[in-house]
Amino acid sequence: MYTAALQQLEGKINTISEEFKVLHKYNPIEHTSSRIKSKESIVNKLKKKGLELNYENLIKTINDIAGMRIICSFIPDIYKIVEMIENMSDVTVLKKKDYVTTPKESGYSSYHLIVSVPVSLSIGTIDVKVEIQIRTMAMDFWASLEHKINYKYDKQVPKNIKKELKDCAKMTQKLDKKMSNLGKSLMEDEKELVKEITAEYSTVYAGFMLTENAGI
Ligand code: GTP
Ligand code: MG
Repeated sequence: MYTAALQQLEGKINTISEEFKVLHKYNPIEHTSSRIKSKESIVNKLKKKGLELNYENLIKTINDIAGMRIICSFIPDIYKIVEMIENMSDVTVLKKKDYVTTPKESGYSSYHLIVSVPVSLSIGTIDVKVEIQIRTMAMDFWASLEHKINYKYDKQVPKNIKKELKDCAKMTQKLDKKMSNLGKSLMEDEKELVKEITAEYSTVYAGFMLTENAGI
């Protein structure tokens, strides 16, 4: 179920990415990755929550069994992608956490969405939860290093290293802001291009609508 939910979501994000490649000079989606949480991690998480190990608890309380990461270039892209996901008719946004505007105490920054995707099975349709993390390349670089350090120290990271990581997070935020400002010139070019292609796109889209209405 979780694999199917991820595949559906990947398909949708790929479609948007391909659409951008055709219609725009600039694609807000750099790359994506997905993973299914390991059995060990699921069991550990349930134990940590003090819950009995059963499927009901697993389905109800663990939101990140299926996880997808979307990496983009600039901070405004993150919000564009959130909006696009919110506008997907068969994706329901259950929860939003904006650690971009307000980073976590550790320095961690990303935008998190918990969504549900309908998965059609032989017995009927079920709604399956997926955690989506949307971040810039710089945020991803920081998070992956911090994750490795946490792992190395078994989550008991020495104070001085924690402080260094926080300093790095601040530098990452500065870099992201500067890069996003530079990226604005790309967006300006893009605006002109969008005006040009919108008319043609509308004609194509209208064609599809006519075909649908004709019931063909
Ligand atoms: P879990 O941490 O998954 O139990 O859920 P939560 O309710 O605390 O959600 P939150 O949105 O804070 O974090 C979910 C996921 O974000 C984690 O599983 C990590 O993948 C990532 N994350 C959150 N905080 C950090 C952090 O400080 N460092 C890194 N590297 N990743 C983080
Ligand atoms: Mg998690």
